Amino acid sequence: MYTFLKTLLLGRPEGLRSRLRARIHGSCKASPQTASGAPSGKAPASPVVEGAEKSLALKKEPPRDVTPPDGYEVVLHKDALEAGRIIEIIIGGTAIAVANVDGSFHAISNTCPHAEGPLGEGTLDGSVVACPYHGWQFDVRDGSCKTNPYAKVTTYPVQVVGNAVCVKL
Ligand code: FES
Repeated sequence: MYTFLKTLLLGRPEGLRSRLRARIHGSCKASPQTASGAPSGKAPASPVVEGAEKSLALKKEPPRDVTPPDGYEVVLHKDALEAGRIIEIIIGGTAIAVANVDGSFHAISNTCPHAEGPLGEGTLDGSVVACPYHGWQFDVRDGSCKTNPYAKVTTYPVQVVGNAVCVKL
């Protein structure tokens, strides 16, 4: 019971909230990557590495030689996230989840509308991500919720430019 409450309040040991706390306090174990550095006026995107498995999937740095479309940010190298994977990315201080559905990239809010579970830490099955907290399911293509028809998550436009996956908040 204590572990459950601790996880609910503070997040999982390797989850987004724990990593953000560690980053703020200067002892983050993850190795954040930066985006293209293209001028946009926003802080660069920073993929949040979730465990060794996803860390391996993110071994390619976001391309720095790509100018994203107006209003977009480079968030990933297109080969960095394997098909069937989803990952949390911090872009301009906002946490989003980027998914690769059979080579097509989609971006949604990272925050589950049920109880703020981190969707980027969920499990992707086809185009549907299951929230790691209580299992609500969302289609990453349109943000619709399969579990509760009244719930929805924000989707963000995605464009692939060269090797860069670009997202517009
Ligand atoms: S937080 Fe409960 S299903 Fe996402």
